[in-house]
Amino acid sequence: MDTTMSADTVVLLTGGTSGIGRVAAERLAATGATVVAVGRDRERGRAVAEEATAESAGTVAFRRVDLADRSAVRDLAAAVDDEYGRLDALVHNAGLASATRRETADGVESTFAVNHLAPYLLTHDLIGALADTPGARVVVTASSVHRRGSLDFDDLGFSSGYDALDAYARSKLANVAFTLELAERLRASDRADGVVANCVHPGFVPSTGLYRDVSRRAKLLTRLAGLVPGVGTSAAKAARRLVEVTAAPEYGERTGLYVGGDGPEEPSEAARDPETRDRLWRVSADLVGVDPDWP
Ligand SMILES: NC(=O)c1ccc[n+]([C@@H]2O[C@H](COP(=O)([O-])OP(=O)(O)OC[C@H]3O[C@@H](n4cnc5c(N)ncnc54)[C@H](OP(=O)(O)O)[C@@H]3O)[C@@H](O)[C@H]2O)c1
Repeated sequence: MDTTMSADTVVLLTGGTSGIGRVAAERLAATGATVVAVGRDRERGRAVAEEATAESAGTVAFRRVDLADRSAVRDLAAAVDDEYGRLDALVHNAGLASATRRETADGVESTFAVNHLAPYLLTHDLIGALADTPGARVVVTASSVHRRGSLDFDDLGFSSGYDALDAYARSKLANVAFTLELAERLRASDRADGVVANCVHPGFVPSTGLYRDVSRRAKLLTRLAGLVPGVGTSAAKAARRLVEVTAAPEYGERTGLYVGGDGPEEPSEAARDPETRDRLWRVSADLVGVDPDWP
């Protein structure tokens, strides 16, 4: 694959300790880039940093951050800004699906907090570094599951009844709607109009850790679905798609795309709806405590 990455390139990649993100961190480091890989698991974080750095032209630096913790997200952004002074790609890949309803210390349903609000806040806090780096990209690992999601603004956190798949689908719909809204706002921005924003459906990858916290029944269904020829894919193939959108020249100039297996696809109507996107943007700003008038 042709790549725009070089020895000076800095990539911040969340969810770099496992599954699709781990392979993507290794591949991006192989291009010579410095990859800051974020996750919570120290052992896996150290392993990916040591192995990828030893085996590639670039570097993987691990940062232990719980993205459910809003102040930790802000500290991460400040540390990356201070340490590197540039940001070529911000890749929001961390994600979870949870069998039971949990809340963060900030009182937000945790799937929505980690999968959507953390990317929103991290992008907000790093928009200056992205704007100052020519050709910078924001990439979000979304999912085709966004098509079954809905955004009930009166009960975003499912306090009146929780279903793991619905919560996950809602967070992935938020990923796509956020990407499209961000792309449009970037285009109209004087400050950050050179930054592009795209999201990707990596494919169904039953082998990753994503399904470790779902119900027994869902685990079984996932395993069975993975056995059907042509349904599942590998973390390596999924990572290739993510790396392409992050580093291939053809995605450097295009923005507001939802990329599937055969290239850009039309995302769901809910994700494209301008009113829904704008409302999500404002509600998200309110939930993380920032001014919605950005970039
Ligand atoms: N697998 C699939 O079939 C599939 C399909 C479509 C989309 N996706 C998306 O692909 C992305 C990667 O998932 P995966 O399948 O590779 O699953 P995975 O193996 O479980 O990887 C998830 C990553 O997210 C990190 N993470 C989760 N919660 C976190 C938190 N609170 N703070 C910091 N990091 C956190 C994990 O790090 P730690 O464990 O170190 O905390 C891990 O590195 C997700 O966004 C997922 O929604 C996956």
